[in-house]
Amino acid sequence: MRILILSLIWVILLSATSGAVDTQQRAPLKQQVNHDQPIELLVQKMTLDEKIGQLIQYSYGSELTGPGGVKLDILDEIRRGRVGSLLNLTGAGATKEIQQIAVNQSRLGIPLIFGYDVIHGFKTIFPVPLGEAASWDLQSIQRSARIAAIEASAAGLHWTFAPMVDIARDPRWGRIMEGAGEDPYLGSLIAAARVHGFQGENLSADTTLLACVKHYAAYGAALGGRDYNTVDISDRTLREVYLPPFHAAVKAGVGSLMSSFNEINGIPATGNKYFLTDILRGEWGFDGFIVSDWGSIQEMIPHGIVHNKYEASELALQAGVDMDMMSSAYIENLAKLVQDKRLSEKQIDAAVYRILKMKFELGLFDDPYRYCNTGREKKMILNPRHLDAARDMARKSMVLLKNDKNLLPLSRKIGSIAVIGPLADNKEDPLGTWAAQGEAKDVITLLQGIKAALPSKTKVLYSRGCQIDKAEGNEIQEAVELAKTTDVIIAAVGESAMMTGEGLSRADIRIPEVQIDLLKALVETGKPVVVVLMNGRPLILRWVSENVPAIVETWLAGTQAGHAIADVLFGDYNPSGKLPVSFPYAVGQIPVFYNHKNTGRPKVENQRFCSRYTDIPNEPLYPFGYGLSYTTFAYSEITFNKDQMVMSDTLAVNVAVTNTGKVKGEEVVQIYIQDLVGSVTRPVKELKGFQKIMLSPGEQKNIRFKLTATDLAFYDREMKLVAEPGEFKVYVGGSSVDVKEARFELK
Ligand code: NOJ
Repeated sequence: MRILILSLIWVILLSATSGAVDTQQRAPLKQQVNHDQPIELLVQKMTLDEKIGQLIQYSYGSELTGPGGVKLDILDEIRRGRVGSLLNLTGAGATKEIQQIAVNQSRLGIPLIFGYDVIHGFKTIFPVPLGEAASWDLQSIQRSARIAAIEASAAGLHWTFAPMVDIARDPRWGRIMEGAGEDPYLGSLIAAARVHGFQGENLSADTTLLACVKHYAAYGAALGGRDYNTVDISDRTLREVYLPPFHAAVKAGVGSLMSSFNEINGIPATGNKYFLTDILRGEWGFDGFIVSDWGSIQEMIPHGIVHNKYEASELALQAGVDMDMMSSAYIENLAKLVQDKRLSEKQIDAAVYRILKMKFELGLFDDPYRYCNTGREKKMILNPRHLDAARDMARKSMVLLKNDKNLLPLSRKIGSIAVIGPLADNKEDPLGTWAAQGEAKDVITLLQGIKAALPSKTKVLYSRGCQIDKAEGNEIQEAVELAKTTDVIIAAVGESAMMTGEGLSRADIRIPEVQIDLLKALVETGKPVVVVLMNGRPLILRWVSENVPAIVETWLAGTQAGHAIADVLFGDYNPSGKLPVSFPYAVGQIPVFYNHKNTGRPKVENQRFCSRYTDIPNEPLYPFGYGLSYTTFAYSEITFNKDQMVMSDTLAVNVAVTNTGKVKGEEVVQIYIQDLVGSVTRPVKELKGFQKIMLSPGEQKNIRFKLTATDLAFYDREMKLVAEPGEFKVYVGGSSVDVKEARFELK
């Protein structure tokens, strides 16, 4: 509404002054543009070239986060008012220098907006986002984004290209590690938590960042899990699975959004008006600005939907893309498109308006240097409180996958321990990709963490054993000989940072063979082996799960990785993480996810004509929501406050959860529903809520979930969101599989 009123005023003003070009000498910034001056007045002062300039973003400096670069003299472009934003430039001093050029040397002195991929921390690196999602701890996730914003904004940045909220059902896709996993409900809550964390209460505070939800839309549904690949997906699946986290981010007030590289059902997302305007702005009321992904405007040429950058620019702007990241399409073509009357200047003005509005909201017109404070930068970066939070987040993200005979936690009285593996004393890889300004030198390795956790008299021996994908000389044998002299073996295996992330899809997602060879040799020693997994995606863990007694999934845990893992190994922290994504049994099952449909021939054991694999189970090895603890929990049967509900009712679903083990522990109590018969088929389970609770040994808590018709609604045949009367099952438990169930009726 506010936008509408502002736009109306602005249209009136524009019609009074259209065609006027301000040729006066530039007054100092404060007189030119200040907070009291409506944005529309500023837009009026701008030439068409200056307006187009606001829509342009270049990568500055040596760090490239996409292919190619620009050959232009960017500083000169800034002076000429032909740049609105830079990415990949960081540092309070460096950003100030460049900002001064924009403010003092361009005609209107409009400040630049500096963007960067602050994905899981800035200098203090938190676990990769998929790992954070495994915590199911929204407050901690929000805090992690908050800290990332505090550090990044102290280093001159205004804008992060996060959160990445793409639902991913295919672990071959390298970018699965950047998101929150496979579930739209959990993904939506995490999307909102991250937006709140980055943006805080007030965008103009010098400790907050403008968030950018990405990659819109359905980027995670790339065929075959191959990055950038085609997406072909039903409207229903889009609405039910892939879009909800974006909608949640919009509801949380996200200020910007990035269009994705992929095509969706024949139209590239960056040129897709249906998504960028009709749904996003029309249905959801998004009033921030849209930036293309890196070069995605010009990539519509190889997509085969336009002939050249001229047509690409027209398609993108018509669809709703306001800012061109790194394709030079807009700077080269928008003026001509206006001249040729393929676009109107009003359309350009609307895009400029949205970008300037955000610059106002960030406070850049009050003080363009408010984020350039070297003193604050020094104080905030790697602040001890941030490191503590990173350690806490990391241990909360860890998932205990297996723990035969309670091998874990290890006793501190242990005499000797062998720490083996290519990731055991590795400072580089726990950072993961998109580690912003995180540095290997600041990382605590597993070996360091274990040593710090144990008394100095404990013998801690280390041998690499092999590299990520090869072994040198007798490395494996040397590790085995060393391990034989100790009481227990900790083997850190998995993926290097550069095995997951953008452009890093894999067809074979097993642990690299040489590491399995190492594990086999270690298991043969007969010593107890604990596998510490470090990886950014679900891996195929069959051999490990069948042959190793204890497995801890630690993801790529960030700067404090070693301390956090040691906290878990020695029981200073009782693991509470639950998988936010299914771990397949075999690659051939992919996509395998918990909220699938039943089919007309659901699996019947040992029967041929049903929906099953003949050589492997249908089920994943480790399901969504799964994770063990050092204690055990028992669930009572489910009770309701009523067995029937009408549409306006709230149904209370009750269970009692008891800690039946010997130590205090946290449980993520999960509730799922199943609509048994609908006008369209429904998934066998859908997550609708969860509560993370702490219980002392013997303690029991009564947990109450509330379900309303909204929780039961889905898109019917006319694509209307409705709850249909009928019978539902409700499941409550500690994973998507291990549940109690009951039925109720919606009248
Ligand atoms: C391309 C990636 O897809 C996107 O996530 C990132 O924000 C931009 N490059 C900028 O680095």
